[in-house]
Amino acid sequence: MKALVVGGGGREHALVRALARSASAPELFCAPGNAGITADAEVLPEVAADDPAAIVAAAREHGIDLAVIGPEAGLVAGAVDALEAAGVPAFGPTRAAAELEGSKAFAKELMREAGVPTAGHVLLRSREEAVEQLAGAAYPTVLKADGLAAGKGVIICQSEADARAAADVFFTERRFGQTTVVLEDFLEGEELSLLALCDGENVVPLAPAQDYKRIFDGDRGPNTGGMGSYSPVPGFDAAAVEEIVDRVHRPVVAAMAARGVPFHGVLYAGLMIGADGPKVLEFNARFGDPETQAVLPRLRSDLAELFLAAREPGGLAGVEAEFAEDWAVTLVLASAGYPEGSSKGDVIHGLAEAAALAEVTHAGTAARGGEIVTAGGRVLNVTALGPDPAAARDRAYDAASRISFEGMQIRTDIAARAVARVPSQSTQPS
Ligand code: AMP
Ligand code: GLY
Repeated sequence: MKALVVGGGGREHALVRALARSASAPELFCAPGNAGITADAEVLPEVAADDPAAIVAAAREHGIDLAVIGPEAGLVAGAVDALEAAGVPAFGPTRAAAELEGSKAFAKELMREAGVPTAGHVLLRSREEAVEQLAGAAYPTVLKADGLAAGKGVIICQSEADARAAADVFFTERRFGQTTVVLEDFLEGEELSLLALCDGENVVPLAPAQDYKRIFDGDRGPNTGGMGSYSPVPGFDAAAVEEIVDRVHRPVVAAMAARGVPFHGVLYAGLMIGADGPKVLEFNARFGDPETQAVLPRLRSDLAELFLAAREPGGLAGVEAEFAEDWAVTLVLASAGYPEGSSKGDVIHGLAEAAALAEVTHAGTAARGGEIVTAGGRVLNVTALGPDPAAARDRAYDAASRISFEGMQIRTDIAARAVARVPSQSTQPS
């Protein structure tokens, strides 16, 4: 079997590694890939992840039997539709089904229809409407641009003045589409990422994970793509996960099917767990980054088989995804200036030393001469497993401490919450 992973971040590196563990031992390709993925797959650097025509051409040229799309841009551009039309089996939602991520207004409407718990909201269609609604809103409040915004489309507003400024940005800057803004109630609680595989009818949950969105320790500073993650999450055992999937994922998949737009692929629910239970903050139609780097190393089921089953209507009936008992902790090493800016071309030291201790996946890296250098944004991920959160966390930080590059940013509190909640096995009385 030949499998193609589309994308070039840490998530795609983790997907490549997990597919390599499938019983079919697929020959692996990654487009465009990055400097680290070259060790695990044939990379196709000239193929952009958001260019369906180029992806189809590459899949045909290499005789691909399974294509997996990582980033949302490719899904929303119709990569799965184009691949399937060309006879290439593809894992992921069609362009129409990816609207669950591509339009927050659509996701809100669908949740209302399906009775899925989420924050109350109103849609704002113009700046004038925004001014009127914001005068009567309770603060803090949340403004969200309707379309894809690469993690920059959500602004938490502490005051009416903040909210007006945010609305001005969303309605004037072209990259935000300038048409619709969602004004949403601010929710309090703890966030949880619960991803599930869907075959248009059935929902198979993956292990829960927690993501750290802010750049600085203590959840301070601007939002990023994610600075670290861990899996599983204390308090969310199999029964709790089933309950959430029953209240969130299954009704959504049923509502999409009823609309004639069956959802195949990964449905990622970003949840706020508050006093009155879980509420949906957002849906993504893809794997999370860096959640995937912590979740997939624990997977014991055959990933290629799961992906192929999810393509078939009802193909996941009776299927379960099995996970190791181990805990996984993933640290993100980001470049100087991220997330506002980001520096490139800094030489990375210590990769081999770190890789001897933990799993190192690449995100923003490039090869220059014989060296690996930074290519901006989130640069590397370090994932370690252990019998308890403390062991996994210590191992991850030990491995990450071997890596250095100019201006490297790393949070020091990833998974500290899990360590505080789960006793370390090594200090338990025997
Ligand atoms: P999203 O891209 O919708 O996940 O939003 C990014 C981040 O903004 C989330 O992970 C939350 O930390 C925060 N956020 C989004 N919506 C809300 C909300 N209604 N209440 C509180 N925080 C939110
Ligand atoms: N880690 C958040 C995301 O993938 O959207």
